[in-house]
Amino acid sequence: MSFTRRNFIMQSGLGAASILTQMRRAAAEKRGDQDALQKQLTADPQRPQYHFLPPANWMNDPNGPLFWKGSYHLFYQHNPNGAYWGDMHWGHARSKDLVHWEHLPMALAPTPRGPDKDGCFSGSAFVNDGVPTLVYTGVFPEVQCLATSDDAMIRWKKFECNPVLDAPPAGLQVTGFRDPTIWKEADSWLMTVGSGFKGQGGAVLLYGSKDLTHWTYLHTLLTASPFEEKTHAAHAIRYDAVAVGDMWECPDFLPLAQKHCLLVSTQGRVYYFTGSYSHRKFQRESAGLVDGSDLYYAAKSFLGQGGRRILWGWLREARTEAAQRQAGWAGVMSLPRVLSLGPEDSLQIDPIPELRMLRGKHFEFGGSEVSSLLPIEEIRGGTLEIRLKAELRDARQVGLKVRQSPDAAEETTIAYDTATQNLVLDTRRSSLTPDASRRVYTTPLKLRAGEPLELTIFVDCSVVEIFANRRANLTGRIYPSRLDANGIGVIVSGGRSRINSIEIHEMLPISQDRLTT
Ligand code: FRU
Repeated sequence: MSFTRRNFIMQSGLGAASILTQMRRAAAEKRGDQDALQKQLTADPQRPQYHFLPPANWMNDPNGPLFWKGSYHLFYQHNPNGAYWGDMHWGHARSKDLVHWEHLPMALAPTPRGPDKDGCFSGSAFVNDGVPTLVYTGVFPEVQCLATSDDAMIRWKKFECNPVLDAPPAGLQVTGFRDPTIWKEADSWLMTVGSGFKGQGGAVLLYGSKDLTHWTYLHTLLTASPFEEKTHAAHAIRYDAVAVGDMWECPDFLPLAQKHCLLVSTQGRVYYFTGSYSHRKFQRESAGLVDGSDLYYAAKSFLGQGGRRILWGWLREARTEAAQRQAGWAGVMSLPRVLSLGPEDSLQIDPIPELRMLRGKHFEFGGSEVSSLLPIEEIRGGTLEIRLKAELRDARQVGLKVRQSPDAAEETTIAYDTATQNLVLDTRRSSLTPDASRRVYTTPLKLRAGEPLELTIFVDCSVVEIFANRRANLTGRIYPSRLDANGIGVIVSGGRSRINSIEIHEMLPISQDRLTT
């Protein structure tokens, strides 16, 4: 039973005065707990300094990003009760510059006995005739719901006719039915819903409506094909539609230059498909990964100031659940990434230029041949932006060491491997703590003959985000235990490479206390 004032009074049989005393004591204890938690978060060296985070506790998917009336709004899947998944709410924050954030009151919370009584799952935001509107999945069963607000976007009112879509199309045996996106074409509304078919693969369902409340199923916008290799992993003992790719989560459908792009999240990764869209039919022509790592998930885009298409993603933790609960927080929002259409309709991905406002002390050099490890003594730190441009020449590997302790007991290696044509992030020596996972992350990156390697690397305490040649991304989580694990070095092995330039910027925190706002 939930702790409401009414049932508390009914059960306790206490007099009014003593009830008040008890309530005050409970409130004070809660405040004390929260103060203690805030102190802990402020002092936590693993908690990123310039990535967006909720004030505390659990976060997963970015939800409903929207630029409206001069402000950027970001919502996210949030459990306010602790650093574990459950009791899904929509957290909410606002920013003027996409870099600094102000936390706002929770936008959506489950309504007891409502269609979202077991949680407000992922969804999107759009503007209907000047009214900011959220569309999200209520559970269980999975149904689609709406909520609206005035321009301030602080108080959200759930639509009285919720759910507006109460079941998957009759006759379809689907693996899931969630994570809606709504947009307008001429005088019709269109909605995609993430779904799939058991044993066949994921699918995106397309619906149409004239009034946002009555929806007609049109057809699948896309279904899986051999590109999404089925891994039917042996460890998936209990059938998990997402793990085997039979369920596509968080579809996002966006125009990009003269093409369209569909993003879906499944098998721990975000896939993209670019192609042609007309008459509500999507013809996929090209495909790829938004990020090579399974720590980047549930990506969601929106149109930012100046018409830029900006993408958020959820960065998962790579440490034990016990360590997450103990830390009091779990999940980080990626840096915002700008999407554009690259050669052969590939997805081109760049960090937003606004991040430059965080650059502090900086160091750069270039024009030298390197054939071994070249430590950089001039600058060190745990919050950095590093830009490296190198001609590979005959080297086997070219890259960097970051977060290296003076005795190299802890270090993280980022390298391009010319033999395998892979970008590699090696976290096997990143942390001496047993709680952290130690893995090698790789993603393919084919460089054209003579094309220099161009890496932009963001290090933020326990986060590493790598952008390579505008077309490959790799994200990792590291948890160095030593406070002196702050060294940087250029590494070249198996031959010589010419380092054209290396730029290293210290990155300033976006808040003074690691609380984001
Ligand atoms: C993706 C996801 C969504 C769902 C949400 C629940 O990470 O599983 O499909 O709506 O998380 O938190």
